[in-house]
Amino acid sequence: MPDQVHILSMGQMVPSVDAALQQPFVVHQADADSIAAIVTAFGNNIRGIATRGRQKTDVALIAGLPKLEIIANFGVGYDSIDLPSAMARGIIVTNTPDVLNEEVADFTVGLLLSTIRELPQADRFLRDGKWLKGAYPLTQTLRDRTIGMVGMGRIGQAIAKRIAAFDVPIIYHSRKPQADVGYRYCPDLKTMATEVDTLIIIVPGGAATNNLIDAGILAALGSRGVLINVDRGSVVDQNALIDALRDGTIHGAGLDVFADEPNVPSALTALSNVVLVPHVASGTHHTRATMGDLVLDNLRSWFAGKGPVTPVSETPWPKVN
Ligand code: NAP
Ligand code: 8YV
Repeated sequence: MPDQVHILSMGQMVPSVDAALQQPFVVHQADADSIAAIVTAFGNNIRGIATRGRQKTDVALIAGLPKLEIIANFGVGYDSIDLPSAMARGIIVTNTPDVLNEEVADFTVGLLLSTIRELPQADRFLRDGKWLKGAYPLTQTLRDRTIGMVGMGRIGQAIAKRIAAFDVPIIYHSRKPQADVGYRYCPDLKTMATEVDTLIIIVPGGAATNNLIDAGILAALGSRGVLINVDRGSVVDQNALIDALRDGTIHGAGLDVFADEPNVPSALTALSNVVLVPHVASGTHHTRATMGDLVLDNLRSWFAGKGPVTPVSETPWPKVN
């Protein structure tokens, strides 16, 4: 391991991982306000980035780090990183696939049931003393539903496996059918939205999926419709969703992700037919530590000359020309 490899660390992972990062590396820990100053002072030394994805690794940041070799993302979704800039410079991007599949899938089932059975609303009802005046109203059910999965990748398959145990039908949409998956594939998203009453969104963020769930898809989902979004806020047209929730175009939504995190509009928080949580699907001590270890493994392996452990498909290793 060469001495004095400088790393820019944007956002905190978990304390044990942040501490371990300090062992082999010189770490410049940054928040949104201090990135520019760190780049000015140490830009010519920094050879790696560890990022939690809340601050963008954009064209300007990459351009300000001429020695940058690797960007290690704490998370499987890496839409906060400007890939064309990284690819043009031959910079490796790594992420943390698979180690969070089960955690995010467990959480998604919890969010689905919370939304349909109104668990947070019923909790508030009890705390507010309303039970003393009468029973909580009856709710929707999972029993008569058909689930449409948008995305059937690593996490989508883990979610579907759990939902299958609830004995409800599952259909899925993605750009191509997934090999070795027994659920019915629907090549057209709008057609699938008309056939189901519950959509679970688990595709990557970025330009290709921006506002994939728009007013037309929500209208097709219909008045019994429930939307669960655990991937990226950019995948859903948030204003169209607010309108659809307000006017009864769909029944309700469970959201872990938002268009402009951590800002959530009051138009959304004012609604009673939504369950809103602050991007916590992978947020357990166990899984965040495992994700952090993989960030460390990627950086250590790279700077030991052994290549990245989990490079993203756009920056493969060994390099292909
Ligand atoms: P993955 O294995 O790459 O699966 C992605 C799925 O989306 C595949 O089925 C893919 O199939 C489909 N897809 C990709 N682009 C599409 C498009 N334009 N239209 C329709 N389908 C498309 O990814 P993963 O590991 O399951 O993770 C999915 C995403 O979940 C991550 O990228 C991340 O943004 C998000 N996530 C969020 C949290 C959280 O805390 N809320 C935690 C973990 C992950 P095709 O390629 O055939 O289209
Ligand atoms: C994390 C995520 O919350 O893996 C992802 O794509 O969105 C989450 O697991 C995030 O990456 C950490 O900030």
